[in-house]
Order: sequence, then structure tokens, then C-alpha cells
Amino acid sequence: MTRNWSPSSWRQKPIQQVPDYPDAAALASTEERLATYPPLVFAGEARRLKTALASVANGDSFLLQGGDCAESFAEHGADNIRDFFRAFLQMAVVLTFGAQMPVVKVGRIAGQFAKPRSSNIERQGDVELPSYRGDIINGIEFTEEARIPNPERQIMAYRQSAATLNLLRAFAMGGYANLDNVHQWMLGFVKESPQGERYRKLAERISETMDFMRAIGIDADNNRSLRETDFFTSHEALLLGYEQALTRVDSTSGDWYATSGHMIWIGDRTRQPDHAHVEYCRGIKNPIGLKCGPSLTAEGLIELIDLLNPANEAGRLTLICRFGHDKIAEHLPRLIRAVEKEGKKVVWSCDPMHGNTITLNNYKTRPFERILSEVESFFQIHRSEGSHPGGIHIEMTGKDVTECTGGARALTGTDLGDRYHTHCDPRLNADQALELAFLLAERMKQSHDEKRALAANG
Ligand code: TRP
Ligand code: MN
Repeated sequence: MTRNWSPSSWRQKPIQQVPDYPDAAALASTEERLATYPPLVFAGEARRLKTALASVANGDSFLLQGGDCAESFAEHGADNIRDFFRAFLQMAVVLTFGAQMPVVKVGRIAGQFAKPRSSNIERQGDVELPSYRGDIINGIEFTEEARIPNPERQIMAYRQSAATLNLLRAFAMGGYANLDNVHQWMLGFVKESPQGERYRKLAERISETMDFMRAIGIDADNNRSLRETDFFTSHEALLLGYEQALTRVDSTSGDWYATSGHMIWIGDRTRQPDHAHVEYCRGIKNPIGLKCGPSLTAEGLIELIDLLNPANEAGRLTLICRFGHDKIAEHLPRLIRAVEKEGKKVVWSCDPMHGNTITLNNYKTRPFERILSEVESFFQIHRSEGSHPGGIHIEMTGKDVTECTGGARALTGTDLGDRYHTHCDPRLNADQALELAFLLAERMKQSHDEKRALAANG
């Protein structure tokens, strides 16, 4: 058991990014109510994810983590979840086939509601209001009333997470993710794109493989792994009152687990070692992510690793690097060297979204070529450092949105207004996400082939 820790010990520490709830009593009573509700995920599932991530840390699997920047109450339709899941499955299958490695599938979903903000205030014209902090806290509408933090929203977020997770479990286990359906995951608008053509060819090869296996007696009816997939959930553990209310003891091990999602991460703005977010996360046994931005020093990283993963357990800690396409070469190598020198076991994941945000025609956007460029550098750097490029963390949607410029359809600044729907940061649309998956698969196949050649010669 972690020393001097309890689910509420974070309350004794300084804290960043806390909403200003006007009614403390209402907040406390909401948290008490939440604490009586059933857990959303189970400790055994979180342990299974940790084992899968340990395989990533050891260089034998790849992590695919992605979803909305922020989920919203307004877009809680079955179609939305299904389309996201289809795009995600397509990426996963492209990666599995290309890299010839298991892909650990983790959604930024079923709990990704709270947003850290760079400013407490949003100004429009002469009007100043508190910033929007995600649907779990306040409303996105630019009115005084909407922007007041409302604890009741935590109950709504909990219920939406439960319903979303229920549908995702059904999709993952109930037949939708069956590899016999590999052609059906294609989304209508992707069919016409160059990625659509590429995907069809790959799906053909998978179908052929399935036919061959059926002929020799292995099929989706008698083999679970062809029929089902493990899909896990994750979100930023920002709103600690909510997290605390869903922190439960696992009866089989006596350990504490966050049951709001399988994996939770600490943001780049809330990773101070002596502050509340690190304090909360060090005591729970789930796999943890840590966002690493340009301001993180090598010593700072090692200090955080010692706090969050004192037993140096592979799979416990994923370092989600978000430097920017023009900064990654300056920062990633020094962090890798420090981690290697200290013999720390971590998963290295690349978030090519958050360091590449610009403003164009009054829209926050991300040029697709910068996203690809950061990913390319991530692979190159790991190759020259001899470490494993373990995974990717992206903001994406199954919808045909126009939020990031570029890609095979060459979205421009003037296209952004067409279907710009995000509640927070610009996301890859399904087409761009698939294009990224093909690029990743190529790079992974390269390093895979190199390793094989090395093993054969050595
Ligand atoms: N169970 C395997 C896996 O999850 C194979 C698999 C089944 C799969 N359905 C899938 C892989 C959908 C990717 C996408 O890896
Ligand atoms: Mn974001």
C-alpha cells in the first residue's frame, strides 16, 4: 500500500486548474452521491491493460490511444460512438497488419470531459466570462449562466460515460469487431478517398487470410480472438473530486483503483511533483499516463517517475510526449537518455497534436503535415536512441469534420468553417486518421524488418 496516501490526500496539496464552484455544499453532496454509484470499470480490467502495456514497454506491442479532445453532452448519439469506433478499428487493423504486432486499443472516451485551460477568462468583444472547462464542469455557450460550474454536470458525465462504455463493450465483444467484418468498418465518406482504396486492398488480404484459416479449421466461431477485441477507456484525471468519488478498493487485492476509466493521465499543466494531481495518481494502481511537454527537464521526469512508479513496473507508466514538430528533436532525446540511464521501464507514446496547434482564419487548427512530421521524428529518434517507439496518442473523430488542414484531400484554411464541430481542440477526421495509420504501419514495419534482420545476422 502506498505510504501516507488516501483517495483524499490530494486535498492537502496545492492544486492547478480547479473550477470555482459557487456552492461548496452542493458540490460535496454531489460527490457523496457519486461515491455510492457503481464503478464504471473493474480493477481486473485495469490490470489486464497494465499487462498489455508492459508488452508495449518491452517492445513487443504498439499502443493506439485516441478519441475526442473533449466529449460533449450534445453529441452523445449512438452514431457518433459507432463512427468513432469504426475509424478506430480501421486504424487498429491497419497497424496490426502492417506492424505485425499486437495493438493495445485505448480510447479517449467514456470520461474525457474535463479540460485544462491556459486562461481562466475568455474574452469576446467587451465581454469577459469564465473559460469553458468541459461539459463535466460548465457549459460552452458564451453566457454568464452557462459558465458557472455546476456539480450536477458530474452526475451527467458519469451517466454518459456508463452508457458510452456499455455500447463500446457491446461493439468490442458482441460481434461488431469481428475480423470477418473488416470491410464493413469503412465509413461512407472515406470510401471515395485515396485512403478508402488503400484500406479496401488491405481488407481484401485480411479476408483472404481468414478464408485460408477457415479452410484449416480456425474461424471466428471457434476462435475468440478473431471475433472480439479488448478495448479500454482513458481520460485526463483533471477533476479530482470526481475521480476521488469513483476511487474504490479492489476486494481481491486490497489496492485502490480509479474506476472512472481503465487508464488516466496527468496533463502537462498539472504535473508538479508536490501538487494534487500527482498526489492522487501515485496512490491508485491503474496504468497512468504522463504528458511530457518542452518544459519538462530530465531530472524533473526522473523525479516524477520515482513518485508514480516507485517499483519500476513495466506498463504502469506511459510517457505521452507532446513537443511540436519543430521541438521534438530538441527535447525527446534528452528525456530518452535520462530514462535509459536510470533503467526506468516506460511506454513512449507520441502525441503529435498538442504541440502543433496554430490559429488560421480565426480557427484553432493543426496542419496535418506537422502532425506527420512529429510522428516521423518520433520514430527516427527512437531508432537512433535504440528505444521502442511504443505508441501514439491522437485527437480524432469518426465524423467528416474540417478541423485540421491538409491530408490527402488537402483541406485548406478556407475549408475550416465548413464542418468545424469540436468542443475544444481540432481533431483528425476519419480520413486523416486512416492516412496517419498507414504511415505508422509503414514505419513500424521498417523497424520490425530491421530487428528481424539484426536477429538473423546476430
Ligand atoms: N483480437 C485481436 C485484436 O484485438 C484481433 C482482432 C479482432 C482485431 N478484431 C479486431 C484487431 C479489430 C484489430 C481490429 O488484436
Ligand atoms: Mn486537446
